[in-house]
Amino acid sequence: MIPIDVKEKDFEKLMHIYEGAMMQVKQELESMQNTLKKFYEYDVINNINCRIKSPESIVNKMKKKNYDLNYKALIQNINDVAGIRIVCPFRSDIVIVRKLIEESEVINIIEEKDYIKKPKKSGYTGIHYIVSTPVTLGETNIQVKMEIQIRTMAMDFWATAEHKIKYKSKSKLSAIDSRKMVYYSKLINQIDEKIMNINNKYID
Ligand code: GTP
Ligand code: MG
Repeated sequence: MIPIDVKEKDFEKLMHIYEGAMMQVKQELESMQNTLKKFYEYDVINNINCRIKSPESIVNKMKKKNYDLNYKALIQNINDVAGIRIVCPFRSDIVIVRKLIEESEVINIIEEKDYIKKPKKSGYTGIHYIVSTPVTLGETNIQVKMEIQIRTMAMDFWATAEHKIKYKSKSKLSAIDSRKMVYYSKLINQIDEKIMNINNKYID
C-alpha cells in the first residue's frame, strides 16, 4: 500500500512515465558515451547508472520535507524520483560531459549544483543537475524532471563508502568520524587532481 493520495494504479502509471523519461535521457547519455570513446580513444564516461526511487523512499522524503502526500506535490517537489549517475575517470572528463549535457536538445537544465567547487558539509563532492526531458502522452507534451549526478571514480568511491557507513550502520556516525570523512574527502580530491595533472601532461 502506498500511503499517498492517489490510486495505486495511478502511482504505477506515474512511475512508468518517470521510467520512460529516464530511459530517454539515459539513451542520450549513452550515445554521448560512445561518441566520446571514439573521439578521445578511452572511456571518458566509465559508467551510467539509473534508478527509480522506491515508493517508500518517496513517501519518507515527502514526510520529512512536510509536503502534502498527493501526487501534485510529488511531481512539483521531488526532483529525484528518477536519477541518473555518470562516473568518469578524470576530473577533466566532467568538464567535457557537462558541455555536452548543456548542449543537448533532449536534456533541459533546470538547476545546477556544483559540489566540486563548493563541497557539502559532509565532504560530498560532485556535480548535480536537475533537468527535464520532453515526453509525449497521447495528445499532450509534458516535461519530466530528474536528477543527473556526475562524479569521478574517486568521488564515487568516497560517496559510496560514506553512504554505506552512514545509512547502514545502526548507530549515528561520531563527530570525530564525521570530521575524518570530511578530511578524507579532501585527501581523495587532492589525489584526484594530482592524477589528472599527470594525465594532462601526456595528452598529445
Ligand atoms: P535531497 O535529495 O532532498 O537531499 O535534495 P538536495 O537538494 O539536498 O539534493 P542534493 O543535490 O544535495 O543531493 C541529492 C543526492 O546527492 C543524494 O540522494 C545522494 O545521492 C547525493 N548526496 C548528497 N549529499 C551526500 C552526502 O553527504 N553523502 C553521500 N554519500 N551522498 C550525498
Ligand atoms: Mg540532500
